[in-house]
Amino acid sequence: MTPDRFEEALLEEALAAGRLAARGGQPADYIPELANANPADVGIAVCDMEGELHTAGETSVAFTLQSVSKVFALACVLRTHDDELWRYVSTEPSGDAFHSIVRLEEERGRPRNPLINAGAIVVSDRLFGADPQDRIQQFRRFLCAASGLSMSVDSFPMDERVYESECRTGFRNRALAAYMRHFDVVSDPDSAIDTYFRQCSLTVDSAQLARLGLVLAAGGDSPLGGQRVIPKTSCTKVVALMAMCGLYDEVGRFAVDVGLPAKSGVSGAILAVVPGRYSIACYGPSLGERGNSLAGLAMLKVLSERLSLSVFNV
Ligand code: DON
Repeated sequence: MTPDRFEEALLEEALAAGRLAARGGQPADYIPELANANPADVGIAVCDMEGELHTAGETSVAFTLQSVSKVFALACVLRTHDDELWRYVSTEPSGDAFHSIVRLEEERGRPRNPLINAGAIVVSDRLFGADPQDRIQQFRRFLCAASGLSMSVDSFPMDERVYESECRTGFRNRALAAYMRHFDVVSDPDSAIDTYFRQCSLTVDSAQLARLGLVLAAGGDSPLGGQRVIPKTSCTKVVALMAMCGLYDEVGRFAVDVGLPAKSGVSGAILAVVPGRYSIACYGPSLGERGNSLAGLAMLKVLSERLSLSVFNV
């Protein structure tokens, strides 16, 4: 096995490990619509720097980005607010669950990092103009540019059912936003929350997500669109935060087992980047206790071990 080739057999081996691991969990149900996902669906897509895709499993099943959207929203906001943003959100791992409120009181409403829910809401509050629908249109445009696509109505469509489901049940996130408003960390909590719920409800399949993630692996240039989409310094910050905070209170285990910057979402997505080499998108809606895809974790562990992909390799 040469390190630069994703042999079909290796992806199938990873997929088998993913399918096995998926039996140990279940889809998220605190956003009721997510509970309808098929826990047996597992897919993996690897995109190399030439844009070539290597896939296995159910890679055309659509799912919502959920927290994977946070890395792209952050990249977007850093393009214009790089200095300002860090006054309102820190860059430390939290060690807490993704929706935890506990540290906000101790830290005067300033979230530990932009990848936990509180920090992501701060980012959404600054995402483009003010109207959530316009913001999401512009955000979709950004996702298209990052993927090397021209924008169309079909690009990254919003799953209205998931959006409405989260609108009906997202009281914890509303509490985070209202609490941060008290400290002037968030300016318009209602609009920030609506933007955040919308960005979380944008849909992709694993192949599209792998193509989208390539911009992060490439340092902010879109290899597929041939243009710079994220300033290199901002991209480096986003990727560093993925490595430190992307899997919440499971990030240490993930660093030891896999060793790649990554971001998970409760829909069952995990996007991992191998800097300068690959973007890897995993899908499997069966989640473990920390809200991360069990199949995704297992598949990334196989690939990392077999191809020595860990950025911590010595
Ligand atoms: O805010 C929420 O709870 C969801 N929209 C996103 C959370 C999420 O994806 C956490 N990641 N594993």
